[in-house]
Amino acid sequence: MRKQIAAANWKMNLTVDKAEVLLDNILSADISLSSDQLAVFAVPSPYLQLAQQKLNNKENFYIAAQNCYSKKSGAYTGEVSVEMLQSLNIQYVVIGHSERREYFQESNAFLAEKLNIALEYNITPIFCCGEPLSIRDAQTQNEFVSTQLEESLFHFSADDVQKIAIAYEPIWAIGTGKTATSEQAQEMHAHLRKVLADKYGKDVADNISILYGGSVKASNAKEIFSQPDVDGGLVGGASLLADEFIAIIKSLK
Ligand code: 13P
Repeated sequence: MRKQIAAANWKMNLTVDKAEVLLDNILSADISLSSDQLAVFAVPSPYLQLAQQKLNNKENFYIAAQNCYSKKSGAYTGEVSVEMLQSLNIQYVVIGHSERREYFQESNAFLAEKLNIALEYNITPIFCCGEPLSIRDAQTQNEFVSTQLEESLFHFSADDVQKIAIAYEPIWAIGTGKTATSEQAQEMHAHLRKVLADKYGKDVADNISILYGGSVKASNAKEIFSQPDVDGGLVGGASLLADEFIAIIKSLK
């Protein structure tokens, strides 16, 4: 059965003292997760080790990196390798966030390389896809997002593709307060699952978690997550507030 995941993406926010308080507040809350529900915190690289220590192997809670490089090691100043993440026992990495695609020109082909090395090191990628407003306005979002999947994921075997979680994040809904409606989210998630089923078969597609991201908050999480093809969310702004994110975790189905 596929996992239901509440993933926090802190992006480039919080100083270390505030990060500690936020994690402490969430970890001390009364949250009970079943075996198929996870909470994941994608924290800035300098806080990975601290965050991992704070979790202290708490069941169903994980730390993620927000990015990794496509090479194992070497002269790549400023980059973070999956080998480093593995050495810290980090088990998740966000790959292909729209902010990386937009500000750092990360292409579908380059993201395929990052996915390859993440799987090689047994780190679960949370692979982001999603269309800009111009594509949504032209009503070509399904084709746009299918291409993102085809060019970054479709070289994987059925066994390997099931190790990847997908996050659908329409760019027009990120940080704008303008959430996709639960119907729009469900429609796209069903489309993504069909694209995966056409390539790998229904059983494989049904095993892949597809998260929704874009202005998820405590007040809308339950409705969005209740959609049949939505398996939780990747949350930016609201994940920086303990009470909001606790409520979002509790909204997992
Ligand atoms: P917001 O929740 O702030 O819209 O950000 C979504 C996002 O980009 C998560 O990766």
